[in-house]
Amino acid sequence: MGLEKKSKKELIDLVNHLQAQLSNNGRTQSKGASGEDLYKILAHSSQVGFYIMQNRKFQFINSHFREYAGYTEEEMLNMNPTSLVLPEDRRKMAKNAIMMLKEQRFSPYEFRIVTKDDRIKWILETVMSITYKGKRAILGNSMDVTERKEAGRRLEELEALESSILDAIPQAVVGLHERRINFANNAVKSIFGWHREELIGKSIRVIYRNEEEADTIAGLFYSSLENQRTYTTEFPCRKKDGREILCRMKASRIGEKLRERRIVVTYEDITQQKKAQEELERSRQELRNLSVHLQSVREKESTRIARKIHDELGQSLTALQMDLSWLEGRLPKQNEQIQDKARRMSRLVDSTIESVHKISTELRPSLLDDLGLPAAIEWQADDFQKRSGIRCEAFLDCSDSSIDKDLATTIFRIFQETLTNIVHHSKATKCRVSLTEKGKELCLEVADNGIGITRRQIDDPQSFGMIGMRERAHLWGGTVHVRGGKPQGTIVNVKIPLNKGDSIK
Ligand SMILES: Nc1ncnc2c1ncn2[C@@H]1O[C@H](COP(=O)(O)OP(=O)(O)OP(=O)(O)O)[C@@H](O)[C@H]1O
Ligand SMILES: [Mg+2]
Repeated sequence: MGLEKKSKKELIDLVNHLQAQLSNNGRTQSKGASGEDLYKILAHSSQVGFYIMQNRKFQFINSHFREYAGYTEEEMLNMNPTSLVLPEDRRKMAKNAIMMLKEQRFSPYEFRIVTKDDRIKWILETVMSITYKGKRAILGNSMDVTERKEAGRRLEELEALESSILDAIPQAVVGLHERRINFANNAVKSIFGWHREELIGKSIRVIYRNEEEADTIAGLFYSSLENQRTYTTEFPCRKKDGREILCRMKASRIGEKLRERRIVVTYEDITQQKKAQEELERSRQELRNLSVHLQSVREKESTRIARKIHDELGQSLTALQMDLSWLEGRLPKQNEQIQDKARRMSRLVDSTIESVHKISTELRPSLLDDLGLPAAIEWQADDFQKRSGIRCEAFLDCSDSSIDKDLATTIFRIFQETLTNIVHHSKATKCRVSLTEKGKELCLEVADNGIGITRRQIDDPQSFGMIGMRERAHLWGGTVHVRGGKPQGTIVNVKIPLNKGDSIK
């Protein structure tokens, strides 16, 4: 649009200049060159298309005009000038020309011509009535504005596209110059309650809660955008009706440098999203707390039952065993049947004592309480090897004193889960466990040489064993990483910060 205005102005200036020279010429004609010659001299020196028409025929055409149309001089002199004009534009063009000749119109008019090679060009033209070779004639000045017109059209299209894109965006988009709003899309209504027209020209301060916060965010935007193209943050805002909302904002500078202090900011209302997120996080936390509680209740219950079984049942069985051997010694030697029965009873009591011991150890290895985590891990690895036939090496490099009792239980239970998985899924022939203390971190690593594990198995929401391990570690601020081993097998790596432990329980 701007371009077109400029070209019109150029043409008007040129035409005015020519007209001045022509009327000047009228006064001085008799002294020098003839009128016709002067028209031609002017036409040749002119930067625009120039023609003289008389009796519906071109009498003279300058080189610029010939170039627009693509015809030779001879062809043009012999053609019907109207045939140059695109049929749809002929009437309007003729009307405008007549108005101009009658001095009812003063601004240039536009129309399209068809060139010799069948292209369409936009022409901007003015006409005036002159006397040529003693008769009335028309002097035309024209300019090829096709490129400018096209550029203008493209620009308009681009502007239309831009505004439809802006309106299709659900976020509020605001353009700022020195913190003053110079454009806004329609979404400012749904997000801030302001009509876009109301915001134009206002300070961006209106969408913040107070002056201070407006200064803070402006400071953040302008300082960050000095060095980077975009900057994203979350910040509280205020709607027109005073309600507060939380917005995610993305600011980007216009142009390569921030020198002109022009930026565009998009605002997304994330109040509900944030609330839902917090709600979700809270309920997850509640579930975790519940899980901690249930685990600790279960551990305590297991410990209590293990102790009861061990102490009460174990002691009674041992007493029974002693009584039985006392009885065996006093049984009549000649009664083989009774002797045999007593021996079998004694063996049964022995195996029951063993079972009781096993059950109570499975419920809660007393080693864990009596000798600490490293010893319990070593014992468990040994026991696992004996029972499964899978070789299990243990590498222990940590002192028990730094490990909280509940943390020791957590690590021990994770270790037991990895061993169960090795037996059930890995097809391994050996495994290796290491428990190390590095800096302020406790590391448990269990690696096997089995068939390995896939990402899907690790992340499957139905893999409750994996989830349980991760949750147990998470309670202590720790992590569990499971990955395939090289060249084969599975590695489970548990890391728990030692300093955090006490505060988390
Ligand atoms: N050491 C391993 N080697 C090969 N595959 C494994 C190993 N550990 C786990 N997996 C695979 O990962 C899956 C998930 O393990 P996870 O412990 O979560 O569940 P599970 O052992 O199948 O069942 P649960 O532990 O609940 O009784 C297993 O089903 C198995 O396919
Ligand atoms: Mg499992």
